[in-house]
Amino acid sequence: MTTLGTPLSPSATRVMLLGSGELGKEVLIALQRLGVETIAVDRYENAPGQQVAHHARTLTMSDPAQLKALIEAERPLLVVPEIEAIATPMLQQLEDAGVVRVIPTARAARLTMDREGIRRLAAETLGVPTSPYKFCDSLAELQAAIDEGIGYPCIVKPVMSSSGKGQSKIDGPADVQKAWDHAMAGGRVSHGRVIVEGFIDFDYEITLLTVRALDEAGAVQTRFCEPIGHLQVHGDYVESWQPHPMAPAALQKAQQIAQAVTADLGGQGLFGVELFVKGEQVWFSEVSPRPHDTGLVTLATQWQNEFELHARAILGLPVDTTLKSAGASAVVYGGVDAGGIVFDGVADALRVPGTDVRLFGKPESFVKRRMGVAVAHAADIDTARRNAKEAASRIRPRRA
Ligand SMILES: Nc1ncnc2c1ncn2[C@@H]1O[C@H](COP(=O)(O)OP(=O)(O)OP(=O)(O)O)[C@@H](O)[C@H]1O
Ligand SMILES: [Mg+2]
Repeated sequence: MTTLGTPLSPSATRVMLLGSGELGKEVLIALQRLGVETIAVDRYENAPGQQVAHHARTLTMSDPAQLKALIEAERPLLVVPEIEAIATPMLQQLEDAGVVRVIPTARAARLTMDREGIRRLAAETLGVPTSPYKFCDSLAELQAAIDEGIGYPCIVKPVMSSSGKGQSKIDGPADVQKAWDHAMAGGRVSHGRVIVEGFIDFDYEITLLTVRALDEAGAVQTRFCEPIGHLQVHGDYVESWQPHPMAPAALQKAQQIAQAVTADLGGQGLFGVELFVKGEQVWFSEVSPRPHDTGLVTLATQWQNEFELHARAILGLPVDTTLKSAGASAVVYGGVDAGGIVFDGVADALRVPGTDVRLFGKPESFVKRRMGVAVAHAADIDTARRNAKEAASRIRPRRA
């Protein structure tokens, strides 16, 4: 049974977000609505989520000592990772010692923090179909992996990176050195390990939002949202829509894969399972044990968006994953490198039928930084995609 308290009082139900970007901000808003006392942590001041939480803390979450000191000082009921770059072995220690509960589990946070843990679990332990892959620590090993089986075309990614950073496609021998150098420059931490994956010539890719939430009897039940289709440019999401139509056999396989992977990771919460689909064939790509950027579309499409689903699931509350309307999302990039930017055209954007806008409030803009998103609901996904893109394009960020 879930009992919720009063924030800022001794009865408060306290939840800490590790990472407070645009996705964390929406989770924090969902928690606020349930009267949860929130602590928003990020590596820089005035991060989006810090602007809507009861408390803001700024520190290096990949530093185990800083992370331990913070959690021991705050003693939240739940710690909710929003990013991958966290000292997850320390989270595991604190969870093992009974100091805190990590969402969905400390083990899930650890296994998904780099590409190797989750890929080996999915492909080697669970036997889920994935692209062929190999991990390499040098240019020579990369070349050997390609020559001995992965072949061309293939994709190289640093094991520690997200949003397509350091990732490139190799079409032939001439690209190998360049891809290696690009991966070395783009990895999150300075170690030279990469994954090389055979290129999957998929028809489309989806995110299957999968929720592990408690039923009336207190047992975990797995529920699926309608599949989300998306478009990636240089490994970064620019557009998403829901529901993406799928052949029944492909949808069933996708759900089976998502069920297997999330059941193994365990705990309660929402997961974003990324899958590639060709005809009736489905490959697992990766999973976020938390709301997914392509799931921003659910702000317009579901009765309970992915952030509300996550908030409810982690608190032991019931969830409803049903679709309200077809819809789409389109990213608004900064377009300039500057602090404290302004956005022209928001009124014009909101005149596009069925649209809504989120501006994240990031203190610093970069040309390719995601600063906002436009979402649209419509009778069909084509109209929704057109309207979301139109609304996003009417927003014009500029220097103040
Ligand atoms: N083996 C592959 N075959 C074909 N396309 C791929 C493959 N791996 C990745 N991609 C493409 O690149 C995109 C980004 O890859 P991936 O999700 O592994 O990177 P990421 O850096 O974790 O991105 P994000 O953080 O945005 O999810 C995928 O969504 C897909 O479009
Ligand atoms: Mg991805």
